[in-house]
Amino acid sequence: MQTNPLNTFLERLKISFESAVLIKITLSKQRKKHSDLKSIIISPVKLKGGLMLNFVYRHETHDITKNFFIDEALSQISEVLQNDLFYADMYVQGENIRLLGNKKGEMKLLSNKVASLAPISLSHNRNKSRMIEPHGNIWLRELKVTNEQWEVRYEMKDKYLQINRYLELLEPEIELLPKRDKLVVADMGSGKGYLTFALYDYLQRKYTAGIEMLGVEYRQELVDVCNAIAGKAEFYHLKFMQGTIEEADLPELDILIALHACDTATDDAIHRGIKSNASLIVCAPCCQKQIRKEMKPNEEFSAFLKHGILMERQAELITDGLRAMIMEAHGYKTKVFEFISSEHTAKNVMIVGRKVALNSSRRLQTIETIAKIKQNFGIKRHYLEELLGI
Ligand SMILES: C[S@@+](CC[C@H](N)C(=O)[O-])C[C@H]1O[C@@H](n2cnc3c(N)ncnc32)[C@H](O)[C@@H]1O
Repeated sequence: MQTNPLNTFLERLKISFESAVLIKITLSKQRKKHSDLKSIIISPVKLKGGLMLNFVYRHETHDITKNFFIDEALSQISEVLQNDLFYADMYVQGENIRLLGNKKGEMKLLSNKVASLAPISLSHNRNKSRMIEPHGNIWLRELKVTNEQWEVRYEMKDKYLQINRYLELLEPEIELLPKRDKLVVADMGSGKGYLTFALYDYLQRKYTAGIEMLGVEYRQELVDVCNAIAGKAEFYHLKFMQGTIEEADLPELDILIALHACDTATDDAIHRGIKSNASLIVCAPCCQKQIRKEMKPNEEFSAFLKHGILMERQAELITDGLRAMIMEAHGYKTKVFEFISSEHTAKNVMIVGRKVALNSSRRLQTIETIAKIKQNFGIKRHYLEELLGI
């Protein structure tokens, strides 16, 4: 192989795979505007024939999964990066490696060191500190987090860590909830249901008196799969329904969850939580396009926000910072902290709002501060504010 960025990337991939430090690769950014292939997620998988790479081809309306041995996988990746997708992100223990292609056929390789994830056991040896026990857990097996021997699959260890971390973060918030006989929870944009099942599993052990949980998702195929798994796991009070975050028919809620719902879908979810008077609102925002488009910073701020990446980060901070403040103006005490993402992306902020007594002078103060912040950054509208009418 000649040393060009693509070949160097492929060589690093092969070494990482063979030395078992490879976590995941994502290929993204369509070369052709109208191409149906959006991205490919690749991860190591242990199969009967040996260690292979599992490719999930994400198309506009469906996913296709294939497994390849390393050499075939390398040629598939090479071909895709030259014909279909521009970017490749490789996550190995301790390092993220990016290959960026462009329309001129140029490619460049970037690398940054990251903290390694704490190693976790992939066997079913009991680990007392985990909130969700893999052994005998039907939903984890059905979602392919564990194998038939109840062991966490190598390629799913990040997801398993994320599930446990999620519950560790929520536990103290749930413990602060006002005592009631039955807890009603909605998870908006529940996707494949990993975190929905995890929360139900945890809550049904905690709230023996009763829980009712609803996953709302607009992809019917995911709703069907999740309902079938809930049936197999005998989770009788967990239902998934096809619908939108904006309009789904919801009961009165105690907890509203919205994790990684795109752009303003997070605002729609917060809005529904506030309107339902939910005691707890938990969201992990995804992208922040609405505010990014609105931002026209004043002179001082434009001086440093001329750099695209800083503008991007600032838009994220403002969107989520204002979301928390808007929740505060509606009587929620908020916390914003880091939540690990199973994709190792920057989408790792979690906003938690707990309903407290509304203080009207603090509300007015918060509304004024929101207005000033918006003015500094030339923001005319924040979608959540608009929904709530403040
Ligand atoms: C990135 S996934 C996150 C899934 C899950 N909440 C998690 O964090 O693992 C977002 C999911 O929300 C769904 N979704 C996005 N916008 C939605 C909307 N407006 N109404 C209902 N579902 C939506 C998508 O179909 C997708 O399955």
